[in-house]
Amino acid sequence: MGKLDNRVAIVTGAAQGIGRAIAGKLVEEGATVVVADLNGDGAAKAAEELGGVAVQADVSVEADAQKIVDTTLERHGRVDVLVHAAAIVPFVPWDEVDFAYWRKIVSVNLDGTYLVGRAVEKPMRAAGYGRIVNIASNSFFAGTPNMGPYVAAKGGVIGLTRVQATELGKYGITSNAVAPGIIRSEGALATPHKDSFDFVQALQALPRHGHPADIAPAVSFLASEESGWVTGQTLVVDAGHIRD
Ligand SMILES: NC(=O)c1ccc[n+]([C@@H]2O[C@H](COP(=O)([O-])OP(=O)(O)OC[C@H]3O[C@@H](n4cnc5c(N)ncnc54)[C@H](O)[C@@H]3O)[C@@H](O)[C@H]2O)c1
Repeated sequence: MGKLDNRVAIVTGAAQGIGRAIAGKLVEEGATVVVADLNGDGAAKAAEELGGVAVQADVSVEADAQKIVDTTLERHGRVDVLVHAAAIVPFVPWDEVDFAYWRKIVSVNLDGTYLVGRAVEKPMRAAGYGRIVNIASNSFFAGTPNMGPYVAAKGGVIGLTRVQATELGKYGITSNAVAPGIIRSEGALATPHKDSFDFVQALQALPRHGHPADIAPAVSFLASEESGWVTGQTLVVDAGHIRD
């Protein structure tokens, strides 16, 4: 018996990295997973490995966000869980951010959270049950440099999570955020963030590098029925880097 037996979960950004590890954990706990990602080939590969369905979609495009939910309902007839992990992890100094890039990051990292959350809450509301887990970042609390639009968008994700909790609680839907610390995902390792792991490790209570699998158990708890008295919260999962 897994704590997600018979549950259908959408995981965005699940072609690689933290989203992929979360999708794997949810399947281990009994869920059927829909892998939604901009990277269609990566989504198809992950879905094949996980025995799930893949949807190629850009979460910052309204019709694509709706397509993720519609495909899930067509294939499985229900959606119990949304884990929204899709995001761009940029590395850009404050004085090099131009407005077009700012808009791009905010559009994918914050608008996407709104669009997929709005599409999924309708069937969840009709069913009287839902679990939304939005992936934020501890960089919001740390004010991490070289990530201006990202940090601002992740603050928005935490704010939106609280609003979802407040407005959707009466329909049996919880919404929580998980805020990872720096993690050795494909995305992070492809940027200058790859050189920050030892520095950040020195700030952590637990002295080792973080991996995508370190984030998945917290998400699986919040995605399960047993987290039913927890909503509107942000769980920081970062080896004790942020401690306030
Ligand atoms: N890696 C870290 O250090 C770290 C730290 C804190 C928070 N996070 C958060 O964890 C989540 C996963 O990050 P990661 O490090 O695994 O990243 P990653 O870059 O390895 O994976 C991100 C995935 O999202 C997909 N994606 C990007 N834009 C998309 C779009 N518009 N529509 C659909 N899919 C899209 C990518 O194709 C990719 O598969 C993100 O929300 C990120 O902000 C990461």
